[in-house]
Amino acid sequence: SGYNVAIVGATGAVGARMIKMVEQTSLPVNSVKLLASSRSAGKQLQFNGQALTVEETVPESFEGIDLALFSAGGSVSKKFAPEAVKRGAVVVDNTSAFRMDPKIPLVVPEVNEDALYQHHGIVANPNCSTIQMVVALEPIRKAFGLKRVIVSTYQAVSGAGNRALQELHDETQAYLDGKDMEAHILPVSGDKKHYPIAFNALPQIDVFEEDGYTHEEWKMIHETKKIMCGGDMDSDDIKVTATCVRIPVPVSHSESVYFEVEDPKATVKGIQDALAAAPGIVLQDDPDNQIYPQAHNAEGSRDTFVGRVRPDQETPQAFQMWDVSDNMLKGAAWNSVQIAEHMHKLGLLHMQ
Ligand code: A2P
Repeated sequence: SGYNVAIVGATGAVGARMIKMVEQTSLPVNSVKLLASSRSAGKQLQFNGQALTVEETVPESFEGIDLALFSAGGSVSKKFAPEAVKRGAVVVDNTSAFRMDPKIPLVVPEVNEDALYQHHGIVANPNCSTIQMVVALEPIRKAFGLKRVIVSTYQAVSGAGNRALQELHDETQAYLDGKDMEAHILPVSGDKKHYPIAFNALPQIDVFEEDGYTHEEWKMIHETKKIMCGGDMDSDDIKVTATCVRIPVPVSHSESVYFEVEDPKATVKGIQDALAAAPGIVLQDDPDNQIYPQAHNAEGSRDTFVGRVRPDQETPQAFQMWDVSDNMLKGAAWNSVQIAEHMHKLGLLHMQ
């Protein structure tokens, strides 16, 4: 016996990783159903060496499903997640549809596993850039207290989906062939203008808000507070500000994080020790040997890699670090499946 699992958005960039993570999960799995739009219905995808046929997502798809993993865009989640819950499933949603709903837990298991007890059928998976940062900050918060965070991100193109990745490849090829680069998707598919990402850096991820921040930056600020400050997305306990930048890297986000702690006794060594002992983190911090986290090396790993820990030279109790993680795994598919594994361990998942 085991859980009947549905993956919504199975044909997408995150969906492909969700399939892999479910293949490798410690959860007991009885069956897997792959769902997408009518465009991909009938397509075959491999699960554990066996061909499964992709089906169109309809409300009845969720009959008998215990666990539904969603990564098919916010509007699909808004439409179908309640249908899945109505039929007895627990939904782990990788979109932003429910993240800021105060009644819906927003969870990174290394940080706020206990929030899972408050679920009413839906658990939200945070934004990729938020997840790896809070994994790295939580052991520091626990050991020394955390007052303030200033983050700049260097985000991979896969975060914008398979079509954006193809655009990076096409533009790079055009550039090398001496042709004009054509941009149709990035920085944001729905926005008015498009710019090349190849050989470029774009300081726009998601659309602009009225205050001059992008929505991605807004998410990093308020999701971090909701996760680290007991569910309060507007908490003043930790001050956070963010600049989010897309760079021409296919997979893995990198982040430069400045943070101020409460404890005047905090040292680089103490912070490194706290990071090295924490779950989900690999410390890679040896400047003498040029050891530091790199996007290229993080791809395919579930871990968050942290290095370059150093003190701010002028501000007391202030430090800097560099964190890197596979945005498709810890930032999306793995965190979702990890949430399900923790719900199973806590007795919050049920077989129908
Ligand atoms: P499809 O392949 O049928 O379009 P990505 O993030 O890589 O762009 O992937 C988006 C995922 O969301 C794909 O699996 C896509 O399926 C799925 N999707 C898009 N629209 C819908 C919809 N209306 N119903 C179900 N799945 C959808």
